[in-house]
Order: sequence, then structure tokens, then C-alpha cells
Amino acid sequence: MNNLDQLVISATADFAAATEPAKLEDAKARYLGKEGSLTALLKGLGKLPAEERKSTGAAINIAKERIESALTTRRDALKSAQLEAQLATEALDVTLPGRGLPRGSIHPVTISLDRIEQLFRSIGFDVADGPEIETDWHNFTALNTPENHPARSMHDTFYLQGADGKVQDDVLLRTHTSPVQIRSMLAHTQRFQHLETMPELRVICPGRVYRVDSDATHSPMFHQVEGLWIGESVSFADLKGVVADFLRRFFESDDLKVRFRPSFFPFTEPSAEIDVAFMGGELEGRWLEIAGCGMVHPNVLRFGGFDPEKYTGFAFGMGPDRLTMLRYGINDLRLFFEGDLRFLTQFH
Ligand code: PHE
Repeated sequence: MNNLDQLVISATADFAAATEPAKLEDAKARYLGKEGSLTALLKGLGKLPAEERKSTGAAINIAKERIESALTTRRDALKSAQLEAQLATEALDVTLPGRGLPRGSIHPVTISLDRIEQLFRSIGFDVADGPEIETDWHNFTALNTPENHPARSMHDTFYLQGADGKVQDDVLLRTHTSPVQIRSMLAHTQRFQHLETMPELRVICPGRVYRVDSDATHSPMFHQVEGLWIGESVSFADLKGVVADFLRRFFESDDLKVRFRPSFFPFTEPSAEIDVAFMGGELEGRWLEIAGCGMVHPNVLRFGGFDPEKYTGFAFGMGPDRLTMLRYGINDLRLFFEGDLRFLTQFH
């Protein structure tokens, strides 16, 4: 074995002994670098007699190529070993089951609204919707609410600004769901006016309403459900029956006490507040106000296209936020708006 073969063997062995790229580069320098042993041989060529130069030069070049290819092989081996190691530490088990999306829950007020709709549908009521930005006419005038009524004041109602920055006192955020009474009556009477006797109108309207009011028991946005039943012989007794039956079913309490206390609303005559009292629990025996109601005022019937000589009706408006608080024993209205999952996920 000549010197060159030995050089190749020792280079290959040195490369194999290098266990990381930096050490491999050091070993490379010992053979192929400026001061390397193979480089020294090449430099020595010049001193050889001319006739030996060619054959020795060719032999050195072959040895150089073999060392270079040993180097490349080792480099590749180290690189793939490094990749293997990295893959092993960053291993991803694609067979693991997914984590899934946590299920949300329905807001307690929405649960109540669904329940209210379901209970009223079961006795033949439709569910109607109306705009939250209302006209002054639908929200007040058609509901027999006089020009100087306090509900119309700036302190109580959100009015809207026009493009010129001026308050438009004919457009507002509705302060109650009662304007949907008017919209429902007009739609009904326009549809059936050709009939000598119109079919009964039975509708509830759940939705958001707005008032300038904010504390632990009032928020500037809250919910109402309006109810309306108009026909040829609808009486206050029907109102009492429908509302009391609804409340007992809503609270799942057959012995719930329901009381109608005389009151005033411009759009009903006579009018009453509805109070309930539970027969057990923390609130036992305490009267709690939960709705307003009354027989639809003849002027309102007329605005809605009904002849008050022929038709009568009742209306009520209740607060589902309040109903929800009572049903679940919630003591602070603000919990409804905070979005705290510890609170919200308790209701199913
Ligand atoms: N609209 C009334 C209010 O917001 C409630 C109501 C509705 C009273 C229907 C009587 C009849 O206070």
C-alpha cells in the first residue's frame, strides 16, 4: 500500500471519528486545507523531475477525489443523523384524537325568550318582530301617548342624530315593544279588511328596547315581550286567564299567586300592573311586579285599523330579563352583560 492509499484510509477514518459537523471540518482541514497533508503533496510536485510529475500528479488527484467523496459521504451522514434526532424530539403523533371545540351555552335570557315563545305558540299566538329604530308615530303617537308625556322627554328616550348633527325627534330607539302592536294591527287589518269579520289577531313580540337608565336593576338596553289579542269578544277575564296560566307554566309553579293592580298606561283602558308571589323559596309571599297590561284603548284600535265598536282586545308587556332573574334566582342584572363563562354556563 503506498502513501497515498494510506492517506485516503486515515482521512476516511478521521472523518468517521468526527461525530459533529465542526469536528468534520477540522479533519477536512488536516488533509485538504492550506496546510493539509494532501495539499503539501501537491505543492511538492514542482520539485519532482518533469517525467515523474504527470503520473504522480494524477495519482495525487485520484487520492484527493477519494478523500473528497469520503468527506461528502460523512457530511451527508451527519446531516441526516441530525435530522433524525430533530424529528425524534419534535415528534407529532398524528393518531392522537383531536381536542374538539368546547360547546358554548345559550344565554339565560335567550332561554327564557325561547320558552316564552314556545308557551304562547302552544295557545295559538304568532311571534312578530319589529324595528328597534322606530318612528315617533309608532312608538308614541299611535299608542295614544300625548305630546307632553314624560316618556317622550330627552332624559328617558334615545333620539337619533341626522347627518346634519341635529337630533331628529321623529326617529328614536324604541322604548318598548308596544309599537309592534301597531305594526301587527295594521298588517292584519290591511290583509283582512275585505272580510266582514276579521279573524282574531293573536301575537307576541319579543325584542330589545332602550331607555336612558342604568344601575344595578336597570340597563339602557333590556328586553320586553309584548302580547296582543284582538277579537270580537276578548275580555279582561281572558287577559287574566292567559297571563296567569302563562306565568304558572313559565315558573313551573301551580300555586304561584298572580295579582292585577290598577294602574295607568296611555294605550290601555283599564290598565293594570301584574304582580306575582311565590309560595316557597327566598322570595316567599313577596309581591313582585313583572308586567303591565290592559284592554287596548279605543284610539289605539282605531290607529291600527280596527273598529272599536266591533272589536276589543288586551295587551301586555313584560320583562324577560326580570322573569329570568326570578326563575333562576339571579340577583344582579349586570351578570347578563359581563360574559363571564362561570355564570353563563350554568344554564341549560
Ligand atoms: N309598554 C308598557 C311599558 O313598557 C308595557 C305595557 C304593554 C303595558 C302593553 C300595557 C300593555 O311599560
